Amino acid sequence: MKTALFSTKPYDRHYFDRYASEYKQELTYFENRLDLRSAPLAGGYDAVCAFVNDQLDRPVLTLLAENGVKLIALRCAGYNHVDIDAAQELGLIVVRVPAYSPHAVAEHAVALILTLNRKIHKAYNRVREGNFALDRLEGFDLYKKTVGVIGTGKIGQVFCTIMQGFGCRVLAYDPYPNEALAQQGVTYATIEEVLSQSDIVSLHCPLTPENHHLINAGTLRQMKEGVMLINTSRGALIDTKAILHALKHRKVGYLGIDVYEQETDFFFQDLSEEIITDDALMRLISFPNVLITSHQGFFTEEALTEIARITLTNLTNYERGEFIEANTVVHGQVTGR
Ligand code: NAI
Repeated sequence: MKTALFSTKPYDRHYFDRYASEYKQELTYFENRLDLRSAPLAGGYDAVCAFVNDQLDRPVLTLLAENGVKLIALRCAGYNHVDIDAAQELGLIVVRVPAYSPHAVAEHAVALILTLNRKIHKAYNRVREGNFALDRLEGFDLYKKTVGVIGTGKIGQVFCTIMQGFGCRVLAYDPYPNEALAQQGVTYATIEEVLSQSDIVSLHCPLTPENHHLINAGTLRQMKEGVMLINTSRGALIDTKAILHALKHRKVGYLGIDVYEQETDFFFQDLSEEIITDDALMRLISFPNVLITSHQGFFTEEALTEIARITLTNLTNYERGEFIEANTVVHGQVTGR
Protein backbone atom coordinates (compact mmCIF):
# COMPACT_ATOMS: atom_id res chain seq x y z
CA MET A 1 0.00 0.00 0.00
CA LYS A 2 1.21 3.50 -0.85
CA THR A 3 1.33 6.04 1.95
CA ALA A 4 2.31 9.71 1.83
CA LEU A 5 3.86 10.91 5.09
CA PHE A 6 3.66 14.66 5.75
CA SER A 7 5.73 16.91 8.06
CA THR A 8 8.55 14.37 8.08
CA LYS A 9 11.94 15.08 9.58
CA PRO A 10 15.13 13.01 9.25
CA TYR A 11 14.32 11.20 12.53
CA ASP A 12 10.88 10.14 11.22
CA ARG A 13 12.49 8.68 8.09
CA HIS A 14 15.12 6.93 10.16
CA TYR A 15 12.60 5.07 12.34
CA PHE A 16 10.03 4.35 9.58
CA ASP A 17 12.71 3.15 7.14
CA ARG A 18 14.02 0.78 9.78
CA TYR A 19 10.70 -1.16 9.86
CA ALA A 20 8.90 -0.36 6.53
CA SER A 21 10.16 -3.44 4.63
CA GLU A 22 9.23 -5.75 7.51
CA TYR A 23 5.64 -4.53 7.15
CA LYS A 24 5.88 -4.44 3.29
CA GLN A 25 4.74 -0.82 3.15
CA GLU A 26 5.63 1.68 0.43
CA LEU A 27 6.31 5.04 2.07
CA THR A 28 6.91 8.45 0.49
CA TYR A 29 8.20 11.21 2.74
CA PHE A 30 7.18 14.82 2.30
CA GLU A 31 8.73 17.54 4.43
CA ASN A 32 5.68 19.76 3.81
CA ARG A 33 3.16 20.31 6.54
CA LEU A 34 -0.18 18.99 5.35
CA ASP A 35 -2.49 21.86 4.43
CA LEU A 36 -4.67 22.93 1.52
CA ARG A 37 -1.63 23.76 -0.62
CA SER A 38 0.28 20.54 0.00
CA ALA A 39 -2.72 18.17 0.03
CA PRO A 40 -2.58 17.55 -3.78
CA LEU A 41 0.79 15.81 -3.19
CA ALA A 42 -1.27 12.93 -1.75
CA GLY A 43 -2.88 12.24 -5.15
CA GLY A 44 -2.39 8.56 -6.06
CA TYR A 45 -1.74 7.45 -2.48
CA ASP A 46 -4.03 5.13 -0.50
CA ALA A 47 -3.16 6.63 2.84
CA VAL A 48 -1.85 9.82 4.37
CA CYS A 49 0.26 9.75 7.52
CA ALA A 50 0.04 12.99 9.49
CA PHE A 51 1.50 14.49 12.65
CA VAL A 52 0.27 16.88 15.38
CA ASN A 53 0.45 20.17 13.50
CA ASP A 54 -0.83 18.95 10.15
CA GLN A 55 -4.10 20.51 9.05
CA LEU A 56 -6.91 17.98 8.85
CA ASP A 57 -9.95 20.24 8.61
CA ARG A 58 -12.90 19.78 6.28
CA PRO A 59 -11.37 21.45 3.16
CA VAL A 60 -8.14 19.40 3.43
CA LEU A 61 -9.98 16.13 4.14
CA THR A 62 -12.33 16.79 1.21
CA LEU A 63 -9.38 17.32 -1.12
CA LEU A 64 -7.68 14.17 0.14
CA ALA A 65 -10.86 12.10 -0.33
CA GLU A 66 -11.33 13.52 -3.85
CA ASN A 67 -7.74 12.48 -4.61
CA GLY A 68 -8.51 8.88 -3.65
CA VAL A 69 -7.06 8.80 -0.13
CA LYS A 70 -8.99 6.30 2.03
CA LEU A 71 -7.02 6.25 5.28
CA ILE A 72 -5.61 8.93 7.57
CA ALA A 73 -2.97 7.34 9.79
CA LEU A 74 -2.02 9.77 12.55
CA ARG A 75 1.41 9.15 14.00
CA CYS A 76 0.38 10.76 17.27
CA ALA A 77 -2.10 10.17 20.09
CA GLY A 78 -4.12 13.42 20.08
CA TYR A 79 -6.66 13.96 17.30
CA ASN A 80 -8.02 17.39 18.26
CA HIS A 81 -6.71 18.67 14.89
CA VAL A 82 -8.93 16.30 12.86
CA ASP A 83 -12.45 17.31 11.80
CA ILE A 84 -14.05 14.03 12.86
CA ASP A 85 -17.50 14.83 11.44
CA ALA A 86 -16.01 15.69 8.05
CA ALA A 87 -13.91 12.50 8.02
CA GLN A 88 -17.00 10.45 8.85
CA GLU A 89 -19.10 12.09 6.14
CA LEU A 90 -16.32 11.62 3.59
CA GLY A 91 -15.98 7.92 4.46
CA LEU A 92 -12.37 8.33 5.54
CA ILE A 93 -10.92 5.99 8.14
CA VAL A 94 -8.81 7.66 10.80
CA VAL A 95 -6.36 5.70 12.93
CA ARG A 96 -3.81 6.86 15.49
CA VAL A 97 -1.15 5.71 17.93
CA PRO A 98 -2.97 6.01 21.25
CA ALA A 99 0.03 5.10 23.39
CA TYR A 100 3.68 4.87 22.45
CA SER A 101 5.46 5.82 25.61
CA PRO A 102 3.55 7.56 28.37
CA HIS A 103 6.88 7.56 30.22
CA ALA A 104 8.46 9.82 27.57
CA VAL A 105 5.95 12.64 28.11
CA ALA A 106 5.58 12.18 31.88
CA GLU A 107 9.36 12.24 32.32
CA HIS A 108 9.59 15.38 30.19
CA ALA A 109 7.03 17.09 32.44
CA VAL A 110 9.25 16.17 35.41
CA ALA A 111 12.30 17.52 33.53
CA LEU A 112 10.50 20.86 33.12
CA ILE A 113 9.67 20.94 36.84
CA LEU A 114 13.22 20.14 37.97
CA THR A 115 14.85 22.52 35.50
CA LEU A 116 12.55 25.43 36.39
CA ASN A 117 12.82 24.78 40.10
CA ARG A 118 16.58 24.25 40.37
CA LYS A 119 17.40 26.56 37.43
CA ILE A 120 19.63 23.96 35.79
CA HIS A 121 19.52 25.78 32.43
CA LYS A 122 20.92 28.91 34.08
CA ALA A 123 23.49 27.04 36.17
CA TYR A 124 24.77 25.27 33.04
CA ASN A 125 25.40 28.57 31.26
CA ARG A 126 26.88 30.24 34.32
CA VAL A 127 29.44 27.53 34.95
CA ARG A 128 30.48 27.47 31.29
CA GLU A 129 31.31 31.18 31.64
CA GLY A 130 33.31 30.65 34.80
CA ASN A 131 30.54 32.02 37.02
CA PHE A 132 30.32 29.72 40.02
CA ALA A 133 28.09 32.01 42.12
CA LEU A 134 24.87 30.58 43.55
CA ASP A 135 22.79 33.69 44.05
CA ARG A 136 19.33 33.56 42.41
CA LEU A 137 19.66 29.81 41.73
CA GLU A 138 17.69 28.95 44.86
CA GLY A 139 14.94 26.37 44.45
CA PHE A 140 12.59 24.47 46.75
CA ASP A 141 12.26 20.87 47.93
CA LEU A 142 9.65 18.91 45.99
CA TYR A 143 9.28 16.70 49.05
CA LYS A 144 5.89 17.30 50.75
CA LYS A 145 4.72 19.78 48.10
CA THR A 146 1.24 19.34 46.65
CA VAL A 147 1.17 18.45 42.97
CA GLY A 148 -2.12 18.82 41.09
CA VAL A 149 -2.65 16.59 38.07
CA ILE A 150 -5.40 17.37 35.55
CA GLY A 151 -6.07 14.19 33.60
CA THR A 152 -4.89 10.83 34.94
CA GLY A 153 -4.90 8.74 31.77
CA LYS A 154 -1.79 6.92 30.55
CA ILE A 155 0.60 9.88 30.86
CA GLY A 156 -1.02 11.39 33.96
CA GLN A 157 -0.81 8.03 35.73
CA VAL A 158 2.95 7.72 35.15
CA PHE A 159 3.43 11.36 36.14
CA CYS A 160 1.49 10.86 39.43
CA THR A 161 3.63 7.84 40.31
CA ILE A 162 6.90 9.67 39.64
CA MET A 163 5.81 12.65 41.76
CA GLN A 164 4.79 10.31 44.59
CA GLY A 165 8.35 9.00 44.39
CA PHE A 166 9.59 12.51 45.26
CA GLY A 167 7.42 12.40 48.38
CA CYS A 168 4.83 14.81 46.99
CA ARG A 169 1.16 14.80 47.93
CA VAL A 170 -0.64 14.17 44.65
CA LEU A 171 -4.11 15.64 44.09
CA ALA A 172 -5.88 14.77 40.84
CA TYR A 173 -8.90 15.71 38.80
CA ASP A 174 -10.27 13.46 36.07
CA PRO A 175 -13.94 12.88 35.17
CA TYR A 176 -13.00 9.15 35.17
CA PRO A 177 -10.84 8.55 38.26
CA ASN A 178 -8.34 5.70 38.12
CA GLU A 179 -8.97 3.23 40.97
CA ALA A 180 -5.37 1.95 40.94
CA LEU A 181 -4.05 5.47 41.47
CA ALA A 182 -6.50 6.10 44.30
CA GLN A 183 -5.26 2.83 45.88
CA GLN A 184 -1.65 4.01 45.71
CA GLY A 185 -2.47 7.24 47.53
CA VAL A 186 -3.44 9.76 44.85
CA THR A 187 -6.34 11.87 46.13
CA TYR A 188 -9.08 12.68 43.64
CA ALA A 189 -10.74 16.05 44.13
CA THR A 190 -12.75 18.64 42.24
CA ILE A 191 -10.87 20.77 39.73
CA GLU A 192 -11.36 23.80 42.03
CA GLU A 193 -9.74 21.92 44.94
CA VAL A 194 -6.85 20.76 42.78
CA LEU A 195 -6.18 24.25 41.43
CA SER A 196 -6.49 26.03 44.78
CA GLN A 197 -4.35 23.60 46.84
CA SER A 198 -1.49 22.74 44.49
CA ASP A 199 2.02 24.17 44.47
CA ILE A 200 2.56 22.63 41.03
CA VAL A 201 -0.22 22.00 38.49
CA SER A 202 0.47 19.72 35.53
CA LEU A 203 -1.93 19.27 32.60
CA HIS A 204 -2.32 15.77 31.16
CA CYS A 205 -5.80 15.84 29.62
CA PRO A 206 -6.54 15.91 25.90
CA LEU A 207 -7.74 19.13 24.26
CA THR A 208 -11.48 19.04 23.63
CA PRO A 209 -14.00 21.79 22.74
CA GLU A 210 -15.14 21.68 26.40
CA ASN A 211 -11.72 22.30 27.97
CA HIS A 212 -10.36 24.83 25.45
CA HIS A 213 -8.66 27.51 27.62
CA LEU A 214 -9.14 25.41 30.74
CA ILE A 215 -6.49 27.65 32.28
CA ASN A 216 -7.93 31.14 31.91
CA ALA A 217 -8.18 34.34 33.97
CA GLY A 218 -10.85 32.75 36.19
CA THR A 219 -9.08 29.46 36.89
CA LEU A 220 -5.73 31.23 37.32
CA ARG A 221 -7.34 33.33 40.07
CA GLN A 222 -8.17 30.09 41.94
CA MET A 223 -4.51 29.02 42.03
CA LYS A 224 -1.91 29.64 44.73
CA GLU A 225 0.30 32.73 44.48
CA GLY A 226 3.53 31.73 42.74
CA VAL A 227 2.16 28.40 41.47
CA MET A 228 4.21 26.38 38.98
CA LEU A 229 2.18 25.47 35.89
CA ILE A 230 3.31 22.70 33.53
CA ASN A 231 1.68 21.89 30.18
CA THR A 232 2.89 18.98 28.06
CA SER A 233 -0.56 18.26 26.59
CA ARG A 234 -1.91 20.77 24.09
CA GLY A 235 -1.24 24.50 23.85
CA ALA A 236 -4.86 25.66 23.68
CA LEU A 237 -5.54 24.28 27.19
CA ILE A 238 -3.97 27.58 28.32
CA ASP A 239 -5.25 31.02 27.36
CA THR A 240 -1.98 32.71 26.37
CA LYS A 241 -3.25 36.23 27.10
CA ALA A 242 -4.33 35.21 30.59
CA ILE A 243 -1.06 33.45 31.40
CA LEU A 244 0.97 36.47 30.25
CA HIS A 245 -1.07 38.65 32.60
CA ALA A 246 -0.61 36.16 35.45
CA LEU A 247 3.16 36.02 34.87
CA LYS A 248 3.48 39.81 34.79
CA HIS A 249 1.59 40.04 38.09
CA ARG A 250 3.60 37.17 39.65
CA LYS A 251 0.49 35.07 40.21
CA VAL A 252 2.24 32.31 38.28
CA GLY A 253 5.74 31.82 39.63
CA TYR A 254 6.96 29.36 37.02
CA LEU A 255 5.64 28.22 33.66
CA GLY A 256 6.96 25.14 31.84
CA ILE A 257 5.37 24.40 28.49
CA ASP A 258 6.14 21.85 25.79
CA VAL A 259 3.15 23.02 23.75
CA TYR A 260 1.90 26.45 22.74
CA GLU A 261 -1.44 27.64 21.44
CA GLN A 262 -0.02 28.96 18.15
CA GLU A 263 2.84 26.46 17.86
CA THR A 264 1.93 25.30 14.35
CA ASP A 265 3.88 28.07 12.61
CA PHE A 266 7.01 27.69 14.73
CA PHE A 267 7.61 24.37 16.44
CA PHE A 268 9.68 21.60 14.81
CA GLN A 269 11.53 24.18 12.66
CA ASP A 270 14.87 26.01 12.88
CA LEU A 271 13.83 29.67 12.73
CA SER A 272 16.99 31.00 14.35
CA GLU A 273 17.69 33.33 11.39
CA GLU A 274 14.07 34.44 10.97
CA ILE A 275 12.02 37.24 12.50
CA ILE A 276 9.49 35.62 14.84
CA THR A 277 6.26 37.56 14.38
CA ASP A 278 4.32 36.07 17.31
CA ASP A 279 4.66 38.75 19.99
CA ALA A 280 2.99 36.63 22.68
CA LEU A 281 5.50 33.79 22.12
CA MET A 282 8.43 36.21 22.24
CA ARG A 283 7.06 37.79 25.43
CA LEU A 284 6.75 34.33 27.00
CA ILE A 285 10.34 33.51 26.02
CA SER A 286 11.51 36.77 27.66
CA PHE A 287 10.41 35.79 31.20
CA PRO A 288 13.20 34.41 33.39
CA ASN A 289 10.74 31.97 35.00
CA VAL A 290 9.33 30.51 31.79
CA LEU A 291 10.78 27.41 30.15
CA ILE A 292 9.58 26.44 26.68
CA THR A 293 10.46 23.31 24.75
CA SER A 294 9.10 22.78 21.26
CA HIS A 295 6.83 19.74 21.60
CA GLN A 296 9.59 17.27 22.38
CA GLY A 297 7.82 15.35 25.16
CA PHE A 298 7.36 12.35 22.87
CA PHE A 299 10.92 12.47 21.56
CA THR A 300 12.62 9.37 22.91
CA GLU A 301 14.07 6.36 21.11
CA GLU A 302 11.42 4.10 22.63
CA ALA A 303 8.54 6.37 21.67
CA LEU A 304 9.78 6.89 18.09
CA THR A 305 10.16 3.13 17.66
CA GLU A 306 6.62 2.52 18.91
CA ILE A 307 5.19 5.33 16.76
CA ALA A 308 6.75 3.79 13.63
CA ARG A 309 5.77 0.21 14.50
CA ILE A 310 2.18 0.99 15.52
CA THR A 311 1.61 3.25 12.51
CA LEU A 312 2.93 0.49 10.19
CA THR A 313 0.68 -2.01 11.98
CA ASN A 314 -2.28 0.33 11.44
CA LEU A 315 -1.48 0.52 7.70
CA THR A 316 -1.12 -3.26 7.40
CA ASN A 317 -4.33 -3.86 9.35
CA TYR A 318 -6.21 -1.49 7.08
CA GLU A 319 -5.06 -3.49 4.04
CA ARG A 320 -6.37 -6.65 5.68
CA GLY A 321 -9.65 -4.99 6.68
CA GLU A 322 -8.73 -5.39 10.34
CA PHE A 323 -9.00 -2.85 13.15
CA ILE A 324 -7.54 -2.35 16.56
CA GLU A 325 -10.41 -0.63 18.33
CA ALA A 326 -8.21 1.53 20.57
CA ASN A 327 -6.26 2.81 17.53
CA THR A 328 -9.35 3.74 15.52
CA VAL A 329 -10.80 7.24 15.67
CA VAL A 330 -13.16 7.04 12.67
CA HIS A 331 -14.18 3.63 11.31
CA GLY A 332 -15.45 4.54 7.80
CA GLN A 333 -16.34 1.77 5.36
CA VAL A 334 -14.34 -1.46 5.48
CA THR A 335 -15.30 -2.65 2.03
CA GLY A 336 -13.97 -2.63 -1.52
CA ARG A 337 -10.29 -3.23 -0.85
P1 NAI B 1 -5.35 9.36 27.82
O1 NAI B 1 -6.50 9.36 26.88
O2 NAI B 1 -4.75 8.06 28.26
O3 NAI B 1 -5.75 10.17 29.14
C1 NAI B 1 -6.41 11.39 29.14
C2 NAI B 1 -7.16 11.50 30.46
O4 NAI B 1 -7.68 12.83 30.54
C3 NAI B 1 -8.34 10.54 30.58
O5 NAI B 1 -8.27 9.84 31.80
C4 NAI B 1 -9.56 11.47 30.53
O6 NAI B 1 -10.65 10.98 31.32
C5 NAI B 1 -8.99 12.74 31.10
N1 NAI B 1 -9.72 13.95 30.75
C6 NAI B 1 -10.42 14.25 29.65
N2 NAI B 1 -10.92 15.49 29.72
C7 NAI B 1 -10.53 15.99 30.90
C8 NAI B 1 -10.71 17.23 31.56
N3 NAI B 1 -11.41 18.22 31.00
N4 NAI B 1 -10.17 17.40 32.79
C9 NAI B 1 -9.47 16.40 33.38
N5 NAI B 1 -9.25 15.22 32.80
C10 NAI B 1 -9.76 15.02 31.57
O7 NAI B 1 -4.25 10.28 27.13
P2 NAI B 1 -2.68 10.31 27.39
O8 NAI B 1 -2.00 9.29 26.55
O9 NAI B 1 -2.43 10.31 28.85
O10 NAI B 1 -2.29 11.73 26.77
C11 NAI B 1 -2.77 12.93 27.33
C12 NAI B 1 -2.46 14.07 26.36
O11 NAI B 1 -1.05 14.27 26.28
C13 NAI B 1 -2.85 13.78 24.90
O12 NAI B 1 -4.21 14.04 24.67
C14 NAI B 1 -1.97 14.76 24.15
O13 NAI B 1 -2.66 16.00 24.04
C15 NAI B 1 -0.76 14.96 25.07
N6 NAI B 1 0.47 14.41 24.48
C16 NAI B 1 1.55 15.22 24.38
C17 NAI B 1 2.73 14.75 23.84
C18 NAI B 1 3.96 15.62 23.75
O14 NAI B 1 4.90 15.27 23.02
N7 NAI B 1 4.03 16.71 24.48
C19 NAI B 1 2.83 13.40 23.30
C20 NAI B 1 1.64 12.58 23.54
C21 NAI B 1 0.51 13.09 24.08
